[in-house]
Order: sequence, then structure tokens, then C-alpha cells
Amino acid sequence: MKQRLAVIEERLLERAGGQTELVTQAAQHIINAGGKRFRPVLVLLASHFGGSVEEEDLIRAALVVELTHVASLYHDDVMDDADLRRGAPSANRQWQNSVAILVGDFLFARASTTVAELGVDYVMLQAETFARLVQGQIAETIGPADDADALAHYLQVVADKTGSLIATSAVFGGMVSGAPGGVLEALRAYGEEIGIVFQLSDDIIDITSDVTGKTPGTDLREGVPTLPTLLALRSEDPADARLQELIRSDLSDDAALAETITLLRGHRAIDEAKAFVAERAENARRMLDPLPDGPAKDALAELCDQVVTRAV
Ligand code: IPE
Ligand code: IPE
Ligand code: MG
Ligand code: MG
Repeated sequence: MKQRLAVIEERLLERAGGQTELVTQAAQHIINAGGKRFRPVLVLLASHFGGSVEEEDLIRAALVVELTHVASLYHDDVMDDADLRRGAPSANRQWQNSVAILVGDFLFARASTTVAELGVDYVMLQAETFARLVQGQIAETIGPADDADALAHYLQVVADKTGSLIATSAVFGGMVSGAPGGVLEALRAYGEEIGIVFQLSDDIIDITSDVTGKTPGTDLREGVPTLPTLLALRSEDPADARLQELIRSDLSDDAALAETITLLRGHRAIDEAKAFVAERAENARRMLDPLPDGPAKDALAELCDQVVTRAV
């Protein structure tokens, strides 16, 4: 695993090479800044459920999902007007929005070349996944219709923007190892559910963690509803009036944002959100039941705990 991840690092940088120094620098910037490589890890673990693995294809599959992910981060940071990504200045800050958008497109193109090398089944799945991811981002931007349930809308956004690519990471691992249909379906279901948990955790640690390598409270500042804020808004306790007023207000003001973060960090909505996330993580664990026992399954089960407790 370690050796393969090292190869993936090298290849990621290689695939980010462009015609000019600026393109290469800007495209390698966020790759070099680190990241958990959660999606490549999932590809590698899921590849243990088939027969034999062609090493080059396995690496390609991991590159496709990470390149797609990193490209979406370049675009997401423009959308969120983010300052920081992976502890480094975001590309939109380091250069400018148009550079970040175009470099994101460039990395999508490189993901396309890589997935084409795998074959048409992979191209189809990657394209459908990307379409879902983007539509999740659009749905988040537009927000729910007036008569829609805000929590249901939010959970659909989370599944589409994040569950989709994480599900596909697990499926790609199964595919490159020639796993049968039933196994691919179990991997997809597990990947989708753990992907949802992954984003729900991300939304909690946007409020609670100072070590994400991103600016805390970015979702609040951007007015993006998340599980903790949706739960806090549901409260009928008059003591929550100030917090609710803040959540609904313009939080571009640093002092107002800081007050909101402080109030939310001590609020039961965070505990409720964590309990919901833990429940969904148990769902993900159950989805592993059809898979054969062994170290790979144990590792996937362990991810269910890690994703709930993570601060990064
Ligand atoms: C951030 O993804 C965006 C989400 C979908 C939550 P990660 O948390 O996987 O970010 P990196 O790749 O580790 O930086
Ligand atoms: C972005 O969600 C998900 C995708 C990039 C598809 P967030 O906006 O929560 O991601 P972060 O917190 O900026 O990493
Ligand atoms: Mg963001
Ligand atoms: Mg986030």
C-alpha cells in the first residue's frame, strides 16, 4: 500500500505537468500541498476483492479519482472564495479565480486521458460520477425550493457532490481486480454511504476543528447550510435565538463569524450531528456484510470509525 501510494504521488505530479511553467506550477500546487488521498486509498483497498490486478491499471484508477477530486477542489475554492486549501494558499488566492478555474479544467482533462487508458466502462462511470458531483455543487449553490425540506435537500447534495466520487473510487478498485457484479454493488453501496459520512464529518469539522488546513467557518461565512446549522435552526429553545439570528445573517463580518463559531461549538446541535454521523457510519459498516472476510474488509470497516472521529 505504502509503495503504491508513493508511485501515485509521483504520477499525480507527472500528470499535472503542462506546456508552461505557470500551468505546471499551478496544477501541482494543491497536489504538492498534501491531502489525505482518501479516494486512492479506497481504490487500493477495494482492489483486494477481485482476482488478479494489473498494477498499471490499479495506479491509473487511483489517479483518475484523485485528479477528479483535486480538480473539483480548485473549482470549489473559487465558489467558496476560500483562502486556504491543504494548509497552503488556495489557487484562487495564490493566482486568481480564472487561473484556478482553468487549472481545474486542465486537471479534469488529465483525468480524462487517464480514464481513457482504462477503457470505455471506466470512462462511462467517471463521466456519470462527474455529472453527479457537479449537479450536487449546483444544487448546493441554488439551495432548496421554498416548499422543500431543507434537511432532505442537504443530504441529497452531500450524496451527489461527495458520495458519488467516493462510491466510484470503491467500484474502480473492484473493477480493476475483475470483481463480480455482486461485489461491485456492495463496494458501491459502501462507498456511497461512507462518502456521505465523510462529507457530514467535513461539515462538522468546518465548525469544530482548527487543523483541517482550511479556514474554519467557511460554510457559515458562505451561508451554506450544513447538518449542525440545520439542527440549530430547528430548535425552539428561546436561548438559541441569538445563534439562529447569526446563522441567518451575513457572516462576512469576522466578529459575527467568530461569535457564531463559538456559540455553535458549545451547542448540542454538534452532538446531535455527531450522533447522526455515527449512525450513518454503522450503515456503511453493515454494507460490507456481503464481502468476504479478510484484512481488506477489516481496513474498510476501520475507515468507518476513522471518518467519524477525524479532525482533518
Ligand atoms: C475535501 O475533501 C472536500 C470534500 C469532499 C469534503 P478531502 O477531505 O478528501 O480533502 P483532501 O483531499 O484530504 O485535502
Ligand atoms: C466540496 O464541499 C465538495 C466538492 C469539492 C465536490 P466543501 O465545500 O465542504 O469542501 P471543502 O470543505 O471546501 O473541502
Ligand atoms: Mg469548499
Ligand atoms: Mg467543507
